[in-house]
Amino acid sequence: MCGIFGYVGKRNDGQKLVFNGLKSLEYRGYDSWGVGVIPEKKNTIVVKKKTGKIGNANVNDLPGGSLSFGHTRWATHGGVTDQNAHPHLDCNGEIAVIHNGIFENYEGIKQKLLKKGHKFVSETDTETLTHLLEDISKKEPFTEAVRTAFNQMEGLNAVIAVSTKENLLVAARNGSPLVIGFGKNENFLASDASALLPYTKEVYFLEDNEMAILASDKVTILNVKTARKIIPDRRKLDWRVEQGGKGKYEFYMLKEIFEQPQIIADIASLGASQAKEMAKIIREARGTYLVGCGTASYACLAGSYLFSKLAKRHVNFAIGSEFGYSLDFLNKDSLVIAISQSGETMDILESVKKAKNRDAKILSLVNVPGSSLYRLSDHKMLIMAGQEKAVASTKAFTGMVAHLVLLANSLNGGVRKGQKSLMQAVGSMKHVLSPGSLKKIDKLAGLIVGKKHVYVIGRGLSYPASLETALKIKEISYIHAEGLAAGELKHGPLALIEKGTPCISFLPNDETYGANLAGAMEMRARGGFIIGISHKPHEIFDYYINVPDAGESTIIPEVVVAQLLAYYLTMRKGLDPDKPRNLAKSVTVK
Ligand code: F6R
Repeated sequence: MCGIFGYVGKRNDGQKLVFNGLKSLEYRGYDSWGVGVIPEKKNTIVVKKKTGKIGNANVNDLPGGSLSFGHTRWATHGGVTDQNAHPHLDCNGEIAVIHNGIFENYEGIKQKLLKKGHKFVSETDTETLTHLLEDISKKEPFTEAVRTAFNQMEGLNAVIAVSTKENLLVAARNGSPLVIGFGKNENFLASDASALLPYTKEVYFLEDNEMAILASDKVTILNVKTARKIIPDRRKLDWRVEQGGKGKYEFYMLKEIFEQPQIIADIASLGASQAKEMAKIIREARGTYLVGCGTASYACLAGSYLFSKLAKRHVNFAIGSEFGYSLDFLNKDSLVIAISQSGETMDILESVKKAKNRDAKILSLVNVPGSSLYRLSDHKMLIMAGQEKAVASTKAFTGMVAHLVLLANSLNGGVRKGQKSLMQAVGSMKHVLSPGSLKKIDKLAGLIVGKKHVYVIGRGLSYPASLETALKIKEISYIHAEGLAAGELKHGPLALIEKGTPCISFLPNDETYGANLAGAMEMRARGGFIIGISHKPHEIFDYYINVPDAGESTIIPEVVVAQLLAYYLTMRKGLDPDKPRNLAKSVTVK
């Protein structure tokens, strides 16, 4: 969470470059943004910071400078105000800090600084660091002061600090991501390598407890604890800059939804050999655990059904934030399959590190190559969904499930069967995305947009589909939605169904059909408005959306219906599906 971008170099409009960099990082946080610049030959730091999304803002009123830094904020400490936006300055306006993470022990340090007479103007934890640096740099050179201060910080953090006395960007990382970009007589820093692509492809991913001192012609990396120099293992990114922005679509989310048939077809053809390779690793493991957060956790849950059904294998499933509390039995023969779009989700990284400490092997399935999870894994698979910009995950989810379909089939020697079923899913998705079907889903959104609660039921593979449907609806349209295993209805939730309550039922062409229909009937008997998502209509449906059967991959087109429904609900409420309130794309805090 929070986007960081820094520049030091030959250009004298560094503030504009940083501002543009922030635009590409805004998915990481959009409560507020800010840019700081040290103008040429002036001993001062000029800052512009504002609440809200960047939108049509500009930094034309900032002076030019060759050292600049910026931040997009996802608020943790302190409300969403201009004052709390980053960068933060010390008492004299000579030191500035931008920060991603949580400075857990800031309160005690702040109290001591207040006693020394420092004036605080924000409610943030970050501001404490600026005053701490002011204090320490009276006795130590600035770069050393950053090291000393960072070592006092508890928590998972990434910071950039600058001082008017040095033409340097000084950064340190523990937990939150930071990438250095190497240019010619210019160097860059960002919290996501994709933001660096327009400027350089030569990068170094800063590791935990490393700090970087960036001048225009030199980058020095040190161990933050020992000050020992580190020779950076530079990498050349072979990523391409995503072209075309939103293209013909009004929002990234819709664009990404429409990209799915092609992505799944590509995974079906390009992912098979990788799946066969990884199946060997799974076969050798004694105890396999699928771990993910949010939408990725539902892909993991779907994976546990797929492995059982297709590979006759017991695979455990855990939510990333909980896994750390239930992994005491892991050992060197265990395999953790960690699934994450960003590869930066702190809840996953933390539990994966704990698993590694118990000598378990890590196989990651991530969308962002070079991400923290990717780097710390023993075995790596790429989702290959292309950059996902909308906060609500769509194509990454279906991509994750597609790889799991191939993996589960590979385990029983049937990768071709997996490919075939994915191609069926592609056909089914194309049907869901056809004009007639879109119209029906949009009309459904119109019928339920005024409702306060939506319930979604499924069994087997449609159970994770139900959970994902509810998550998509609530996170972007802000309508309360609950996904349930259909069998659980009678154990409590049925009490909530009343006349007109929208009840979405997944009824695929599999063993769950009859039991799911029974669940839908139970809801109908209580007055529920039954929305059947199925390969065939049924008289009990008040509304029907057709999803052609795609065998065990039917969950993929089912979820595409859910994505579209959530999107149309959001449109009807006049909300921004790409940047829903309170959320951010990459969740790098615990
Ligand atoms: C929901 C959503 C989140 C993410 C979750 C994990 O649409 O996007 O629930 O799925 O934060 O993120 P990754 O996959 O990056 O680990």
